[in-house]
Amino acid sequence: MPPPKPALDRLLRAAAEVRGNAYAPYSGFQVGAAVLAGGRVFAACNVENSSFPLGVCAERNAVAMAVAAGEQRIEAAAVVGGGVRPAAPCGGCRQVLAEFAPPEAPVLYATATGVPVATTIGALLPSAFGPADLRAGEQGSTGSRAAPSPGKRRSAARARASRTSGR
Ligand code: THU
Repeated sequence: MPPPKPALDRLLRAAAEVRGNAYAPYSGFQVGAAVLAGGRVFAACNVENSSFPLGVCAERNAVAMAVAAGEQRIEAAAVVGGGVRPAAPCGGCRQVLAEFAPPEAPVLYATATGVPVATTIGALLPSAFGPADLRAGEQGSTGSRAAPSPGKRRSAARARASRTSGR
């Protein structure tokens, strides 16, 4: 069951609020993101760096906060950024969200003032590469080390993998 609308509204508000803290002096493109995990909201902004490739997207910082707090299942995500049109999460962030969110998890993205676009992580990243692919590769290999587990708790991706993997 997807989180109820008030929970998603709260997530969007958290993303919009934290966007104000974005450190984006190089791109000028401020982004706020929030993820819902274990009933809690984890919100973060993009943090750029004078060594440009070291900048980190808002979504990835929000996911890191959830994981650091012990949450490995993301129920929904919201992203606020963009000027005239809402900016969807970048490809790398889709992959990072998909590690912890089931395909049906809602993703909302919006400008600071506009109507959000509602989609799901599965729609944003179909046929995602994930932990199951590593395990499948491992089965076909000749005695190399096991792929690392993402943690002691089952992440959404792991749970999904064991549900859907016939390999
Ligand atoms: N950015 C995000 O925070 N999330 C995305 O999904 C796309 C891009 C940031 C990275 C950089 O600081 C700025 O937006 C311009 O790319």
